Amino acid sequence: MACPAQLSIPSSEGDSEREVHYQDYLRISELLSLQELKSATLGKDGAVHDEHLFIVIHQVYELWFKQILHELESVMDIMRAEVIDENQMLIINSRVTRITVILKILVEQVKVLETMTPLDFLEFRDFLIPASGYQSLQFRLIEVKLGIKEADRINYGSGTFKKPFETYLDLKKKLDEACSSPSLLDLVQQWLSRTPGLGKGFNFWAKYAASVSNILEEKKQQAEVETRPQVKEQKFKDYQMQQLLFKQLLDEKEHNALVKKGTRRLSHQALQGAMMITLYRDEPRFQAASQFMNLLMDVDTLFMQWRNNHSHFVQRIIGTKVGTGGSSGYHYLRSTVSDRYKVFVDFFNLSSYIIPRHHIPVLSEEMKDRLYVHFITAESEQRFARHISPGFRQGEEGQD
Ligand code: HEM
Repeated sequence: MACPAQLSIPSSEGDSEREVHYQDYLRISELLSLQELKSATLGKDGAVHDEHLFIVIHQVYELWFKQILHELESVMDIMRAEVIDENQMLIINSRVTRITVILKILVEQVKVLETMTPLDFLEFRDFLIPASGYQSLQFRLIEVKLGIKEADRINYGSGTFKKPFETYLDLKKKLDEACSSPSLLDLVQQWLSRTPGLGKGFNFWAKYAASVSNILEEKKQQAEVETRPQVKEQKFKDYQMQQLLFKQLLDEKEHNALVKKGTRRLSHQALQGAMMITLYRDEPRFQAASQFMNLLMDVDTLFMQWRNNHSHFVQRIIGTKVGTGGSSGYHYLRSTVSDRYKVFVDFFNLSSYIIPRHHIPVLSEEMKDRLYVHFITAESEQRFARHISPGFRQGEEGQD
């Protein structure tokens, strides 16, 4: 952004231009008047020094939450298209990267609060009751828009995470709307299920299943020829465990049972797309897609780090006292540092099913053409034109 002090706008009074002033453009006076210390108005002994920090840090968090929502919504707008133009992947990735950079700041920012001692906090804590970060609408909107479902949440007391907004109808409406709209996870799932190569043309999943079967057979044979009894037993155990593990991936019914249980989130088809992108991530058309998946895992990881830092900080400052919002405090917060709150948990767990490079099914010439971005001569343009697609399309396979 240009330095706001250097911007100028036409004056309404004539031709001459009036310079926009930094103070006006950023509305600094209003911004700096928003830190109203409760201890200053309600306390017997006047304002408590550290309440200022407490307010500023929460307001800074809320501003960054606003920016995260701004980026997240723009990414979701792009992803809502039936065919996502692959040119857009760079924009998507740069915006999600921005979210991760902001989240890194948010994780670190807890350190500023750590300069406040439990005694300092105790001096103004009672003025806050029953206000709590639990009532942050923007935090909930980020969670919901990313894809945390109500069923995966840990509730405390009598109400759900929506309860704090019951008396604020405009906020409740925003939260309800977000809850009933497709989340980023839903949109990513739709996009993944259109991954080129899943359909009858290349039929990636059948080829992958055949490779898995070969790997398991190799493992079984290695166990059978092993002569050392203990190692043999270990090898058989490993073979049986791998067999079970892959069954949970390859068998759609088993997969759906895990989705129902809440340990997996993506549809079977979307998971196949995610696996295909992961295994062929070097192919030009999958490079940006694979980066996107990695960035989504970064978002999950950073959120988890924030939850972790915040919970440890809370223990340090209030021990095991109940929170101002009425939860068990530290224990409640610890329970949210869990895979239940990892939206893209399936991407993390995909590593259990990665197969060695020499077992990855070889791409057909047709498939290679489809995944390559060629620097081509005008003469060969026609030959390649039929394979180059601007986005992951439903039924792309049908062109075979
Ligand atoms: C002295 C500082 C802080 C203390 C003692 C504290 C304490 C707590 C406690 C005990 C909870 C659980 C709900 C409750 O019973 O109130 C909570 C939730 C929460 N706090 Fe803080 N907090 C502090 C600072 C912050 C800051 C700076 C933020 C930044 C926005 C924040 C955001 C949140 C959020 C979003 C939740 C809801 C988490 C969830 O339900 O998963 N807190 N906090």
